Amino acid sequence: MAMQIAVFGTGYLGATHAACMAELGHDVIGVDVDAGKVEKLASGDVPFYEPGLDEVLRRNIKSGRLRFSTSYEEAAGCADVHFLGVGTPQKKGEFAADVSYVNRVIEDLAPLIDRPAVIFGKSTVPVGTAERLGTRVRELSPAGDAVELAWNPEFLREGYAVQDTLRPDRLVLGVDPSRNGRAETVARAVYGDLLDSGIPLIVTDLATAELVKVSANAFLATKISFINAMAEVCEAAGADVSVLADAIGHDARIGRKFLNAGIGFGGGCLPKDIRAFMARAGELGADQALTFLREVDAINMRRRTSMVEVAKSACGGSLLGARVAVLGCAFKPDSDDVRDSPALNIAGQIQLQGAAVSVFDPKAMENSRRLFPTLYYAASAKDACNGADVVLVLTEWQEFREMIPSDIESVVRQRHIVDGRNCLESDRWRDAGWSYQGVGRR
Ligand code: UGA
Repeated sequence: MAMQIAVFGTGYLGATHAACMAELGHDVIGVDVDAGKVEKLASGDVPFYEPGLDEVLRRNIKSGRLRFSTSYEEAAGCADVHFLGVGTPQKKGEFAADVSYVNRVIEDLAPLIDRPAVIFGKSTVPVGTAERLGTRVRELSPAGDAVELAWNPEFLREGYAVQDTLRPDRLVLGVDPSRNGRAETVARAVYGDLLDSGIPLIVTDLATAELVKVSANAFLATKISFINAMAEVCEAAGADVSVLADAIGHDARIGRKFLNAGIGFGGGCLPKDIRAFMARAGELGADQALTFLREVDAINMRRRTSMVEVAKSACGGSLLGARVAVLGCAFKPDSDDVRDSPALNIAGQIQLQGAAVSVFDPKAMENSRRLFPTLYYAASAKDACNGADVVLVLTEWQEFREMIPSDIESVVRQRHIVDGRNCLESDRWRDAGWSYQGVGRR
């Protein structure tokens, strides 16, 4: 049965969720305070790069099931299921999450809801937020107790957002057990098709649902930092971390995924989520439980400085006056997101040490230029490599993986390639007379 749904916030999470809910057959209104974003989405343009999302968006706008607006009144008037998908960035100068956007949606929306409704929070929030917001909603809404607040965290990965929304590994729903309301019934109706296809739904309390999300991201970050710590040991011992990862990854208890050593994790989620998690645990008096995440963060940040050192030694011990080509600025391939991108951060650090840095990324040029306007933005990978003393591959785009030495060797000054993601075939480069250096490899 088609349900009337509003989605607040139209960033990666909200825009994808709105389009995918319409794809499931619901009538959806996506709401954002940013009129420019709303206008773009309404005309079928996705304001960021996400493979496959534009087709889902356009198809559903055309069918009339999906529209966008800046009006909370319009959304509250037509929808009785509300999803909250605004951002929770890191606070300036603190580890904690800034929940002001989430609070704002509730303060603006709740007074407009005058009939029974369910609000599902999807944003990543500090544990305890949902309970607080539930109380606030009941205070502010003319419908009072008839408005329920539940938590339905989102696990989508950028680059796979549509697939992760329509075919997630699991759905998690946190409800207030003291209220015994309709939230679970409504969620089962919204996600009916997914549940029919066998996707598990875990129903729990609000605090557990909030913690499932942050602990999942903390685990993923820990897994990446674990393998990067092994890379450091492999480098010291003359061993090979890629073979090590393959070998331990065969153990089903460990698994091979998220064991790729390299320049570490970045993006708008993992780094800020582990910090916010530590901050919240501290507030709850459980800080000792998460002190290991400090080490996870430290190992991760060390990858960036260590890559700068590798570039420096490839340039003969000093970056001053050197020419460095950086291939990849996005925090990962198939994304134009450069938030806390290790690649862009390394490019910036190298430039600050006196090198001329030329960068190229298939999709993230515009966002990178906005953040680091002083780097040289090349027209192609080959253009970036022009006159380079060293070529650094820092985001594992397919285009760079497939590159062959003859593509760039006529333009570089020296045949040095550094593989910051262990994504290249080392023999291909060595056989062509290049010096190849990966991470945690001989
Ligand atoms: C992450 C989680 O994977 C999602 O489940 C979660 O929903 C999302 O955060 C979120 O909280 O919204 P995402 O930020 O899109 O998703 O990126 P990931 O695919 O997790 O990659 C994060 C970083 O780790 C990237 O910089 C990537 O290059 C790096 N990484 C990943 C490694 O260095 N090694 C690996 O083996 C895997």
